[in-house]
Amino acid sequence: MSVSPSIINHLSVVAPGRINLLGEHTDYNEGLVLPAAIGQQMVFTFDRNGSPDQCRITSTSLGKTLQADLGHLQPSSGWENYISGVLRELLKRSGKLEGFDVDFKSDIPVGAGLSSSAALECGLAFGLNILFELGLSPLELIRLSQEAEHNFVGTQCGIMDQFACVMGRKNHFILLDCRDLQHRYIPANLGNCSLLLMGSGIKHALAESAYNDRRAECQRGVALLRETFPEIRSLRDATGEHLNALTDSIPNTIKKRCLYVIEENARVLQALQTLEHGDMEGLGALLSQSHRGLRDDYQVSCPEVDFLVDTALSFPGVLGARIMGGGFGGCSLNLVRSEAVEWVQTALCKAYRESFGREAEPLEVRISDGVRVCS
Ligand code: GLA
Repeated sequence: MSVSPSIINHLSVVAPGRINLLGEHTDYNEGLVLPAAIGQQMVFTFDRNGSPDQCRITSTSLGKTLQADLGHLQPSSGWENYISGVLRELLKRSGKLEGFDVDFKSDIPVGAGLSSSAALECGLAFGLNILFELGLSPLELIRLSQEAEHNFVGTQCGIMDQFACVMGRKNHFILLDCRDLQHRYIPANLGNCSLLLMGSGIKHALAESAYNDRRAECQRGVALLRETFPEIRSLRDATGEHLNALTDSIPNTIKKRCLYVIEENARVLQALQTLEHGDMEGLGALLSQSHRGLRDDYQVSCPEVDFLVDTALSFPGVLGARIMGGGFGGCSLNLVRSEAVEWVQTALCKAYRESFGREAEPLEVRISDGVRVCS
């Protein structure tokens, strides 16, 4: 008697947001990043619905439903685009997708730089991979989620967010080499310090196009460097000496972008040393240097986050602070002595309210596992 394999009809999945300790805007330059998955997450509940091609996707947090036809996936706008993008990429790789219903809710703040978009993409891809036994590997799920963003949403993002969402490990940072995707887990030993996120509540409308502009500027920098140094494949291969050798032939803006990326890659390596030696002052200094580079050279900060960073740094107990994520709003990441966290967060909220008339959003960071099935 043959036993038919049991079909999975119902499934719940958790997909986390992410932080990034250091290595901002280095991923699409084949550089190094140091992200981690966090406790803020999206929870999905999937059911097969028996239809060959009709899907119902409901965001309970937004109170909105998207009806999708697998045969006619169209680019639209907003969160729906991430969904359609992932479905399109899954269909490209496997013809086994069928109709399903999914509800999801999230406590990852949108636009805060915590990559709610990667959580949406990866949670959906991960859940459907199991529900319909598509047989895709974690790396394929990461890549297809990134490509959904490139091809449907139009942001030419790197691979860090999706990698962190899928591969995160509790209480560890992921040292990821974005050139070959080799990675290593680094214990998040912060001694008597904690990470505090302060959301600015700001997300500039031009963030996506400005992000793509930065990427293009880096590519321009590589092209100029290659005229003199053909061995350079990406900014990962470049040094400050290479840049200085080009003095006249490289526009100042492009030079500043390249310099930031070169220095940020070096900071990721230095951060590993500080973590290994429990040198929290050293780590804090690296965060603050990164902020200065992102503000002055890469120019992806904004007055609100600069204020949160500068104010935090004026408080005792704050060892370092920087803007985190793609930039143009979002949040600051602060390294704070644990006993000062509560006081710092109250004082920062007060100062922000007084200066900008807005509420800052403090978030506690717990470093969690990556995307997973939940019971
Ligand atoms: C966004 C992108 C990532 C990365 C960061 C900046 O989050 O999705 O790929 O480039 O910005 O480090």
